[in-house]
Amino acid sequence: MKTCVVVYSNAGKAFAYAQEIAQNKQADILRIEPKIDFKGFMRYVYWGYKASLKRSVSLNPDAIDLSDFEQLIVVAPIHAGRICAPVRSWLFTHRSYLKNVSIITTHLDKKNPYLDAVEALEKEMMFKFTEIQSKVIE
Ligand SMILES: Cc1cc2nc3c(=O)[nH]c(=O)nc-3n(C[C@H](O)[C@H](O)[C@H](O)COP(=O)(O)O)c2cc1C
Repeated sequence: MKTCVVVYSNAGKAFAYAQEIAQNKQADILRIEPKIDFKGFMRYVYWGYKASLKRSVSLNPDAIDLSDFEQLIVVAPIHAGRICAPVRSWLFTHRSYLKNVSIITTHLDKKNPYLDAVEALEKEMMFKFTEIQSKVIE
C-alpha cells in the first residue's frame, strides 16, 4: 500500500519518529510547514495559544502530491492537551479528500495517550481515523 507519513515537528523529535515509521513501512514523508514558526520559549507561548484556542494557521503548500497515496499516517504532537495547531490546520485543509488516515499522537506525558484530543478532533471534522495510536517522545 502506497503510504505517506505526514508530520509537524517543532524540535525535530516527532520528525525523527516519523522517519522511523517511514523507513519501516517504506513510506514517503511529508513535513507540515507553518508559514510562521517559533523555537525556544516562544514556541510554548505561540503554539500553546494556537492549540488552546483551536486557531487555524497558514501553511506552506505540500512539498509532495498526496493524491495517489492509499494510506496516510499522521504524526501529531500534542500541544496544551490538544492536537497541535499545524496538524489540525493541515487536516482541515485536506478534509475533503481524506480517506484512509491513521493518527499517532506524540507527547511527553507517560500516563496520558491523549485519545480524548483525537476524539474531539474527529467530532469537529466529522471524520473517523482508521487507527489511533500514541507515542511518548522524550
Ligand atoms: C507548545 C507545546 C505544548 C506542549 N504540551 C504538551 C502537553 O500538553 N502534554 C504533553 O505530554 N506534551 C506536551 N508537549 C510536548 C510535545 O508534545 C512533544 O515534545 C512533541 O510531541 C515532540 O515533537 P517535536 O518534534 O515538535 O518536539 C508540548 C510541547 C510544546 C512545544
